[in-house]
Amino acid sequence: MDEPSRRTILAAGAAGLAAVAGCSTYGESKDAPGTTAPAGTALAKTGDIPVGGGVILGDSQTVITQPTAGTFKAFTSVCTHQGCQVANVADGTINCDCHGSKFAIADGSVVKDPAPQPLAPKQITVTGDAIPLT
Ligand code: FES
Repeated sequence: MDEPSRRTILAAGAAGLAAVAGCSTYGESKDAPGTTAPAGTALAKTGDIPVGGGVILGDSQTVITQPTAGTFKAFTSVCTHQGCQVANVADGTINCDCHGSKFAIADGSVVKDPAPQPLAPKQITVTGDAIPLT
């Protein structure tokens, strides 16, 4: 059987993406540390991002959220505590399973310790239904 395409993985929803993203540190990733998508790369489609939730795009170390309908935010998916990839987005927070930190989907701020800092924002623009990194 063919491996799933990126589009297929996106269509699997946040839970599936969270499973792909997992909770790993840089050292466990197949990608080089700090690998990020170049500017202009389409990260996702607006329809892929649930209102009041978000998706984790592990390849680009990005979390895209839609706190309210039509408002999209992006943050690094690297937890500010000890560098795990955040694991999922649920109940209005971006969650790291390594030690339980939670971050607000609206601004990346720390909702639950031990993370010492908010998730760093990333610049995105919405062009039609595409969300490229800028
Ligand atoms: Fe995320 Fe510790 S690395 S809570």
